[in-house]
Amino acid sequence: MRIAILGGTGNIGRGLALRWGLRHEILIGSRVGSKAERAAGECAETLSAVTSIACQIKGTTNTEAAAAAELVVIAVPYRAMRELVDAIRPVLDDQIVISLVVPMEKSDSYLKYTPPSDGSAAMELKRLLPDTVRVIAAFHNLPGEKLRQLNMRLECDVVICGDVEGMSVVSALVEEIDGLRVLDGGGLEDAAMVESLTPFLINIARRNKLHGLGIRFV
Ligand SMILES: NC(=O)c1ccc[n+]([C@@H]2O[C@H](COP(=O)([O-])OP(=O)(O)OC[C@H]3O[C@@H](n4cnc5c(N)ncnc54)[C@H](OP(=O)(O)O)[C@@H]3O)[C@@H](O)[C@H]2O)c1
Repeated sequence: MRIAILGGTGNIGRGLALRWGLRHEILIGSRVGSKAERAAGECAETLSAVTSIACQIKGTTNTEAAAAAELVVIAVPYRAMRELVDAIRPVLDDQIVISLVVPMEKSDSYLKYTPPSDGSAAMELKRLLPDTVRVIAAFHNLPGEKLRQLNMRLECDVVICGDVEGMSVVSALVEEIDGLRVLDGGGLEDAAMVESLTPFLINIARRNKLHGLGIRFV
């Protein structure tokens, strides 16, 4: 599958590029094409150090990546989401869009979930993107730093929300990553509950001097 990872130069986006890079054609997107090309080159180099299988990872602008992809991952901070949506809306058709976006802000030294009036970043995306696009919320509670370490088995759950057809495509992509289990979190209107766990996880990690926490339901 041809997958665009918008904001793929960042922490979690690179992790997904590395984890999917041997099975899929990955387009890393950035506001700046040359930055994306550099990130793609670094990901390809990382993969070539662990396997002789050729990978197809390229870098380009967010808009070009979205236009060329069958599936689009939105991996930018919430404050950047609106600008990104304005740039890609004209080139989207009937792709599946995965939202990783968590709206959160610092309050004192801890983080607070700050959902928009739509209820969640995922629901806001659904309103802003063309009706033909299927938005699926996923990967919010996964630690990007561990995803980027290819020798690390994650042992985490990934709760996904959205429509049945889109979720079946995204479930298969999640389960390609060693150690991840998919859990059905309900419709997209339930995404707020999943998004809100991320600042909670980060706060727990800070308070207890832990790193890269994920979730696992037992
Ligand atoms: N990190 C995690 O472990 C993790 C886990 C789950 C979910 N998430 C969510 O996934 C999203 C990405 O997280 P991240 O940690 O990967 O973010 P990040 O590294 O801070 O940023 C990702 C990319 O977004 C672009 N960007 C950053 N600030 C921007 C701005 N003000 N305007 C436009 N573009 C901007 C940058 O790409 P260019 O400069 O190349 O355009 C950057 O490389 C966030 O919404 C986060 O809440 C993160």
